[in-house]
Amino acid sequence: MTQTLTIRRPDDWHLHLRDGSMLKAVLPETARHFARAIVMPNLVPPVVTAADAAAYRARIMAALPEGMAFTPLMTLYLTEETDPADVKAAAESGLVTAVKLYPAGATTNSASGVRDFDKVRPVLETMAEIGLPLCVHGEVTTPEVDIFDREAVFIETVLDPIRRATPGLRVVMEHITTRDGVDYVAAGGDDLGGTITTHHLIINRNHLLVGGIRPHYYCLPVAKREEHRLALRAAATGGNPRFFLGTDSAPHLTHLKEHACGCAGVFSATNTMSCLAEVFEQEGALDRLEGFGALNGPAFYRLPANEETITLTRGDPVAYPPVIETDDGPVTLFDPGFPLHWRVD
Ligand code: NCD
Ligand code: ZN
Repeated sequence: MTQTLTIRRPDDWHLHLRDGSMLKAVLPETARHFARAIVMPNLVPPVVTAADAAAYRARIMAALPEGMAFTPLMTLYLTEETDPADVKAAAESGLVTAVKLYPAGATTNSASGVRDFDKVRPVLETMAEIGLPLCVHGEVTTPEVDIFDREAVFIETVLDPIRRATPGLRVVMEHITTRDGVDYVAAGGDDLGGTITTHHLIINRNHLLVGGIRPHYYCLPVAKREEHRLALRAAATGGNPRFFLGTDSAPHLTHLKEHACGCAGVFSATNTMSCLAEVFEQEGALDRLEGFGALNGPAFYRLPANEETITLTRGDPVAYPPVIETDDGPVTLFDPGFPLHWRVD
């Protein structure tokens, strides 16, 4: 008997599409299954102003193959110079769906991020007034803090103080990787959401480091211990609407990951829905995949869920290509380390 699962078309609430030939190669991988995505602004130079976002949006639409439908939900990269009036106008015109906070130096292309949080207070206050969500890369960058503790320390020393000081600010704690993150989001009320990536539901730090270093599992925030992965799985599959999918699919050329100083980022756009179906099946929660992938995100962002559907069918393992080719070289696809039985028809 064939098993099928039909759900509303999913959205990706945290995605890196890049630019140029990389954009051209990876955009169809997302647009094939996803209707919309929150597009990260960490280009070089970053997408800082409304004008930058409008230009980037036009480049994305120009790269979309004929016959494919996809809506990029644009974000602005918050800097200490961001103008609250520019943010407000961009939000009110519908151009921008969120603002992204990178602590300076936290991750790939985050040098223009925020060092002094007092400097961005007027922007945060404007955002609270107009209900524009702040997407947060939740890691401190203080060199004294161990990389595995950066998320927990961020919650206590940065995120919670910001939220207390800015009542009404709507925050998405992105790509949570710890039980601390899960607990904080679960207790946070209506103004707080949390995204979870596909790969953090599947790998822990042993997958990254045991038996040889696996550069294609290296991302930021870095994968944590098994107990944290289990907390993330429970959150994603547990039906709490505050948790939703943000793949953080972050392509880098294969040779720049297999490198003495390898880039952070896992590219999972192509097989994410197959991976998630496998994970939700393993957890006995296939009936909650639609909530996590297609309902909870729009509800948080106050957008309608997609009317279209996709159908997943269970069968023989799906043979995904190991790499996606770009004009600049290959990008390695996330390998979950187990067979994927669910294909998207
Ligand atoms: C992202 C990238 O490559 O842009 N990398 C990653 O490991 N997730 C940046 C980010 O989201 O932290
Ligand atoms: Zn990211």
